Amino acid sequence: MKKQLVQVGFFTPDLQRQIDSEFDSVKAELADAGLRATVQGLITRSNYQLPQALLEELPALRVIATSGVGFDGIPVSYAQQRGIVVTNTPGLLDAAVCELGIGLLLAMLREIPQSDRFVRDGAWAQSVYPLTSSLSGKRIGIIGLGRIGKGMAARLEAFGVSLAYSGRRQEESPYRHVASPLALAQEVDVLLVCCKGGEQTRHLVNAALLEALGQGWLVNLSRGSVVDESAVFQALTKGSLRGAALDVYEQEPLVESPLLGLKNVVFSPHAGSATVETRAAMLRLTLDNLHAVLGGKAALTPVPTVD
Ligand code: DGY
Repeated sequence: MKKQLVQVGFFTPDLQRQIDSEFDSVKAELADAGLRATVQGLITRSNYQLPQALLEELPALRVIATSGVGFDGIPVSYAQQRGIVVTNTPGLLDAAVCELGIGLLLAMLREIPQSDRFVRDGAWAQSVYPLTSSLSGKRIGIIGLGRIGKGMAARLEAFGVSLAYSGRRQEESPYRHVASPLALAQEVDVLLVCCKGGEQTRHLVNAALLEALGQGWLVNLSRGSVVDESAVFQALTKGSLRGAALDVYEQEPLVESPLLGLKNVVFSPHAGSATVETRAAMLRLTLDNLHAVLGGKAALTPVPTVD
């Protein structure tokens, strides 16, 4: 008999079929009192918030498996205090996230979405599209030189840019370490936000940091919570910030935001890992973690213990 799971959030149809072939997975909002009392596994994706109140209703829970690397949406400290194992899928999605990051960066600087609209709308017959900005020669500052930050830096080397970073500590790396995000913003053209989400980095990119960046560009591949979106809107509308490319938002999905009315913002729907190949690999590891813990074995990729 298949083991039961409670599921928070959506997977694409193919991935959902894979989950359903291995487990009896029920959406949290449809789980009745009987299932809530006995269910031992929970599956989710890192794009979703997992409320502690839901976990409190699942007294038998033994494992929370998120298909994704971030776990800032999970009350990990509460879960671990209860002895619930939390697992994620590190190392599988770095390439996909970096590919999207490079794409967003180029789309922002070369105004690819705007140029596409220009051609579609027939505007080309009346005028020429304004000149855009080169990536080559830009000074790029990376906030957070973890897996994604390093992956972006390695790919960016091919574009003839200069690279510096700020982070909690100086890494073994060929790039220049700058003491603080503010100091980094002061000396670069483009800020790439690649750090972890969570309370420690909440609104790290704020009005003061954008002021320091001045006539620059911002790319956020991290978490929406890291960037104060209203400060980004102010900086873009007063003309200091030249453009932004965002994959993540303070509220997801992004449906109502003054940013949506601005031409110099490129959006993507929290899609860093959203390729067929990557999401399949992530789900495989997620399911393997669930099978392991529910079968009495150690988790393959548990998240670190938090205080
Ligand atoms: C992650 O895994 O944390 C990515 O942002 C996808 O959610």
